[in-house]
Amino acid sequence: MARWTFDDIPWNRFDRSKVDVEIVRIVKAAALVEFNGDAYARHLCLVFHDDPVFQSSAKRWGEDEVQHGRTLAHWASLADPDFDFAAAFARFQAGFHPDFDRDSSRRGSRAGEMVARCIVETGTSCYYFALHDAVEEPVLKEICRNIAADEVRHYKLFHQTLIRYLGAEPIGFLRRLGVALGRLAESQDDELAYAYHAANETVLPYDRRRCARAYARRAFAVYRKPHVVRGVKMLFRALGLAANSRLARAAGHLAWAVLRHCAGRGTHAAACRHSPRKARARFQLLTNLAACLCRLLAHRLQQPRFGSRRAVGVAGTKRL
Ligand SMILES: [Fe+2]
Ligand SMILES: [Fe+2]
Repeated sequence: MARWTFDDIPWNRFDRSKVDVEIVRIVKAAALVEFNGDAYARHLCLVFHDDPVFQSSAKRWGEDEVQHGRTLAHWASLADPDFDFAAAFARFQAGFHPDFDRDSSRRGSRAGEMVARCIVETGTSCYYFALHDAVEEPVLKEICRNIAADEVRHYKLFHQTLIRYLGAEPIGFLRRLGVALGRLAESQDDELAYAYHAANETVLPYDRRRCARAYARRAFAVYRKPHVVRGVKMLFRALGLAANSRLARAAGHLAWAVLRHCAGRGTHAAACRHSPRKARARFQLLTNLAACLCRLLAHRLQQPRFGSRRAVGVAGTKRL
């Protein structure tokens, strides 16, 4: 599935003068999560045990994700020669233990699993497009361009599989919405927060709230309106709604307005109105409220309780 390789990256164009240390921190965290992709691919092969066609695609998908992690890790080590990716990944694996061995989807059906995967690929594709547009360092820009294109292909793979499975496992709009909201709420769980901790902290004890805030503050700063609008359209498509409808456009505008207002970002005027500290607090409040609302709605839509907290190792949250 990979259309590019590690060796295709123009590493010799690396420009240290254009490295943003705040971006380096979130790139390190992303490298850990991506590099763990093959474990999730194995889980998908268990869930789709009698579908060799999808298993083959899932394995190639996992290889893509591992390549993303390896490439981001190498860039991070150029930006920060003290970064020890192997040690950071060992810390990540020691503290974060999703249940990759289960042979059924936590989303209640294979179609539900594909909805959740579409949500994840929506998030990753928009994130790498946003990162591509935000960074100045040329090598990272090229890496993000390649990864974003991969994530779009991943979304298409899972969306096509969703359509295929809806025939045998029909799940209605509300069930799909429940899965989507539940998966969105899980963005507040341990995976990214613990990856941020494992990648950037060697002395401090893990604190989910602090690490989630530290990650989100840096990651959300790279988004601009087109990225958010694009993400909402992909979300609509995963839910079986018209992506080019007025409703989708309105939802995209609303999502951007809420993000910009509460993060205190997006326009110079907004940045001037709120102190960075106040803006951070408001943004954190919004993301917490949104996660709670998503969990509540997902529960009301009678989804199985996924993303539930379980004491596992250091990090604790199981998430698939
Ligand atoms: Fe990826
Ligand atoms: Fe992906």
